[in-house]
Amino acid sequence: MKVLVTGGAGFIGSNFIHYWLDNHSNDHLINFDKLTYAGNPENLEDVTSNPNYEFIKGDIAQSADIKEALEGVDIVVNFAAESHVDRSILDPAPFILTNVVGTQVLLDAAIQAKVKRFHHVSTDEVFGALELNSDKKFNEETNYNPRSPYAASKAASDHLVRAYFTTYQLPITITNCSNNFGPYQYPEKLISLAITNLLENKKVPVYGDGLYVRDWLYVEDHCAAIDSVITKGKIGETYCIGIDNDISNIQAIKKILEILEMKEDKIEYVKDRPGHDRRYAIDATKIKKELGWKPKFDFETALGKTVTWYKENKNWWQKLRNKNFENYYQKQYILRNET
Ligand code: NAD
Ligand code: TYD
Repeated sequence: MKVLVTGGAGFIGSNFIHYWLDNHSNDHLINFDKLTYAGNPENLEDVTSNPNYEFIKGDIAQSADIKEALEGVDIVVNFAAESHVDRSILDPAPFILTNVVGTQVLLDAAIQAKVKRFHHVSTDEVFGALELNSDKKFNEETNYNPRSPYAASKAASDHLVRAYFTTYQLPITITNCSNNFGPYQYPEKLISLAITNLLENKKVPVYGDGLYVRDWLYVEDHCAAIDSVITKGKIGETYCIGIDNDISNIQAIKKILEILEMKEDKIEYVKDRPGHDRRYAIDATKIKKELGWKPKFDFETALGKTVTWYKENKNWWQKLRNKNFENYYQKQYILRNET
């Protein structure tokens, strides 16, 4: 099989490429990535000499780039996206260009290339927010109710993917997953930011009361879930992925402090995110029952592995905390708190 992964130089995409090359050693895999601030070729340094791996620099929103790359491809796995909610609040435009227009351009090219499977990687954020202390969870039947520019752009992309199945019979599948953490996560999301700030002896900024809840899943479990959907999932279907484990931001940060043997004075409460979604929770019964997937890693074990990875790979993330990152940090954390 020839597999084209978009956004493979990012966090989940690069973990997925490692996973796929390890588990499907006869496949040829093309990584098609624009290399934005979040795309990092170093995530894949160890596979560049693998003859089954190929990298193409390109933009999913540019049809000439993607058409050429799709020649002879059997399976597309679409990770390419602008992925950070806070950046979408500061500047929504790139989110519409890549997540909405890019997905449409990619879908058109996939039809022309007659691909056998188009798998779209999406998020639970399309469903909106749940209340604290309720038993409610998102599942495949939950209505869409996106509340940030990021979530709205991903919701639009999911709708397009489904529309191309209904209208053009493009053989699609979609997964909506909860928050991921693990190696190679750019240090802007809660867990990667907290670990890297603490390793630099800085404080961890906690938005609002810190009692926002996420269903944190280790990235390797997400990759295995996508594999099971691509290899066993039913065409046209959506699968929700999560670990069924409500964790508040403050609990997650306290766990990291405990692992690093640091004190709680490293927590700094800052101005809340506008439109902050209170709680996400996933009911993953469908993928478990129909495809036999289940998570391998519990939160604490996976968090320990992740902290160890960041401790052992300072070179990887210290380079990323450069001038561009500092500009973003200023805008997001320093200037915003002064207004
Ligand atoms: P990321 O920001 O780490 O990586 C995104 C990658 O896409 C980067 O390599 C970037 O260079 C590339 N890219 C961006 N625009 C592009 C374009 N126009 N053309 C080609 N490549 C482009 O993101 P991530 O956290 O790895 O997320 C990957 C996917 O998974 C996204 O679609 C995201 O919505 C989804 N998702 C993420 C999470 C999470 O917790 N991170 C959870 C559920 C779903
Ligand atoms: P994030 O990792 O940005 O993922 P998402 O917004 O997609 O869920 O944020 C996870 C939670 O952590 C969310 O409730 C926002 C909160 N958060 C902070 O409190 N401080 C931070 O510096 C960041 C980045 C997030």
